[in-house]
Amino acid sequence: MRYLVTGGAGFIGSNFIRYIFKKYGADAQVVNLDKLTYAGIRENLAEYEGQKNYRFLQGDIAKIDDVVEAYKGVDGSGVDVVVNFAAETHVDRSLMEAGTFIETDVHGVLVLLEEARKHAPKLKRFIQVSTDEVYGSIESGSFRESDPLNPRNPYSASKAGGDRMAYAYAQTYGLPVIITRASNNFGPWQYPEKLIPLFVTNAIDDLPLPLYGDGKNVRDWLFVDDHCAGIDFLIERGENSETYNIGGGNERENREITARILELTGKPESLIKRVADRQGHDRRYSLNTDKLAALGFRAETDFDEALERTVQWYVKNEPWWRAIKERSAEFKAYYDKQYGKR
Ligand code: NAD
Ligand code: DAU
Repeated sequence: MRYLVTGGAGFIGSNFIRYIFKKYGADAQVVNLDKLTYAGIRENLAEYEGQKNYRFLQGDIAKIDDVVEAYKGVDGSGVDVVVNFAAETHVDRSLMEAGTFIETDVHGVLVLLEEARKHAPKLKRFIQVSTDEVYGSIESGSFRESDPLNPRNPYSASKAGGDRMAYAYAQTYGLPVIITRASNNFGPWQYPEKLIPLFVTNAIDDLPLPLYGDGKNVRDWLFVDDHCAGIDFLIERGENSETYNIGGGNERENREITARILELTGKPESLIKRVADRQGHDRRYSLNTDKLAALGFRAETDFDEALERTVQWYVKNEPWWRAIKERSAEFKAYYDKQYGKR
């Protein structure tokens, strides 16, 4: 299979490429198109650089010339599958500046889809990686794929735009689009601005853990390998034009996650710092995953074991996150703006 993976230098994209190479070896060809924004780290996949079935291309999904080049594939013969991970992904950053979210998460998806039209009917799949956030918040029960969308922050609104644009291209032009809506991922190589890696690395350094509001917001945690396995499964077994929820079945309040991180790092509860809530903070995300289960896939990783493994990964890979937290001027400026006066 010849893959075009966008955003493959980010958290889930790099885990996905690793997953594909581990599973399919030399049978897989992967072009990784990534703009290398603050969240893109090419070295995440250093082990594959120079391999003849892997090509890294620095470029923007919203720029047609970059996209045309990427669709040529590793060796000029084209691609069978597109998996679009590329996005601006952090809700807090979308509250500071939303323009780049529209540019990448909506317009970028459009550019990828337009190019896909030129490669149809040879293209087998176009996976648009959407998110459970497009449904908005739910007090009780769980969202099904048929539920209306109600995104409540600039990030999720832009993701909903990309999600529906992909659907529109499936309906209008018959493109082989599948949309996935996953819940909160965690695991190795997650940029340390997101809850779990931020709190683990702050705890290691005895820095405060800035818990928003009352800490009772609920997220459903999905180990990143389960997300990758779900996408791989859908490439093989999904139905075109369909949307699939990919949930972990691990709903936890943020304060529970925080307490567990402190236990695993052996740090005191006094590190918890209650800070002002996120504006428009979605209270709870919850996914009904029956549709994917009916096809034969369920996330299988045990949450507690995976969280422990993830914490260990950050303990063992200090140079990776210290390069970001201590040497990236961009990260420091962001951290100061986000937490300095909170
Ligand atoms: P991330 O922020 O770690 O990585 C995003 C990657 O996209 C980076 O490598 C970045 O350089 C690249 N990128 C950004 N703009 C680009 C552009 N214009 N052109 C090319 N590359 C660009 O994000 P992530 O957490 O790995 O999320 C990947 C995808 O999964 C996103 O689409 C996100 O919306 C979706 N998602 C994430 C989660 C989660 O919990 N992290 C859950 C559900 C869905
Ligand atoms: O649900 C899927 C989404 O999960 C993805 O689409 C997004 O790309 C991804 O960033 C994530 O969004 P969240 O906003 O849920 O993730 P985040 O890690 O930013 O926050 C998780 C919860 O923790 C949320 O309730 C806010 C809270 N939080 C977060 C941070 C960064 C804190 O209390 N303090 C913090 O410092």
